[in-house]
Amino acid sequence: MLSRRLFTAAVASLAIAAVACGGCSKKTDDIAVGAYLSLSGPDSTFGTDTRDGIELAVEETNAKGGVKGKKIRVIYEDDKSTTLEASQKVRQLIDRDKVVALLGEVASSRSIAGGLIANTSKVPMVTPSSTAVKVTEGREYVFRTCFTDDQQGDVAAHFVFDKLKKKKVAVLYVAQDTYSSGLAQAFMTTFKELGGEIVIEKGYQKSETNFTTYLNEIKSKNPEIIFVPNYYTDMVQVARQAKQAGIEGPMFVGGDGWDSADLLAGAAAELEGSHFTNHYAPDVPWPNSKKFLDAFRAKYKRDPSSLSAQGYDAASLLFDAIGRASEVKPEAVRQALTETKDFQGATGNLTIDKNRNANKPIVVVEIKAKKFTFADQLMSR
Ligand code: PHE
Repeated sequence: MLSRRLFTAAVASLAIAAVACGGCSKKTDDIAVGAYLSLSGPDSTFGTDTRDGIELAVEETNAKGGVKGKKIRVIYEDDKSTTLEASQKVRQLIDRDKVVALLGEVASSRSIAGGLIANTSKVPMVTPSSTAVKVTEGREYVFRTCFTDDQQGDVAAHFVFDKLKKKKVAVLYVAQDTYSSGLAQAFMTTFKELGGEIVIEKGYQKSETNFTTYLNEIKSKNPEIIFVPNYYTDMVQVARQAKQAGIEGPMFVGGDGWDSADLLAGAAAELEGSHFTNHYAPDVPWPNSKKFLDAFRAKYKRDPSSLSAQGYDAASLLFDAIGRASEVKPEAVRQALTETKDFQGATGNLTIDKNRNANKPIVVVEIKAKKFTFADQLMSR
């Protein structure tokens, strides 16, 4: 039998271990990771789709015995699609739950808000899908597993100019949104460099729902393509009102913010023949994409969106980094993340560069027969 002294010593050392654990879970039998997402509000499919991808990664990792012999436990927080809640939820996950790392957000504006807290608290964060350049800039603890809007805008401009062979473009974007305005700028810069012409450029306000005046003005300038780097909720309205104004689907080109089943549900017919740059489509040709597609279909009985594939990749990559880290602590996990090379993701092979961004291929998706289909694959310069 254990002597009383020995027993007390054992209890004391366990308590010390729990305190010393610092950045990891309060319970010593698992590893706590935080995820802050828009699980409700206007961008809710971004959050719920991402969560579904993360859950698949958790299930696969834990079925293989977890990481360093411990199970991964993801704590989800809903930021309701607002930047204020995003900051608060990140603070809560760090202070209350003592997570070793964070996953999130999808929208760049919220990753910028949450990333500030993560960075000053020195807890690594991996965003699966925030593409605005600013998200990782100067923030040693903020990583992304997606491309940037500079890369995406560049590829979109090349696609319109080189592949669609269109020279006159109109641009319609959300004026105060970091993602939308940044992507519009990146597109216009390359397009003009290539020798193309921007015939009209219109920034609208975030709360606007009536786009008819903009669309009529755009139409009067006779563009061959209209580049609209907004989010899906707005794009459904733009597409429906464009149809009324006599603007056809193939004229539209967009960015990754279009990726949602809600876009197809709301305006698939209006957008037939349009294109957008993206991270993924169910029929992308990479080796690990098929494996992911099969596993996702088996678990959820539907096809994954890009967001799900990205959530899956960001989570799998983070768990892999925790496994490679010298210990389960934020600083060691950050170090392991910086060393990520040639990770085989469902969204392509990726390497984390010195600015904590991902180098990987960019997909062009076409809306065809009311579905997102793979049209092309381009590397950014
Ligand atoms: N890239 C967008 C942003 O940074 C978010 C997004 C990613 C939306 C992928 C849809 C699909 O705000």
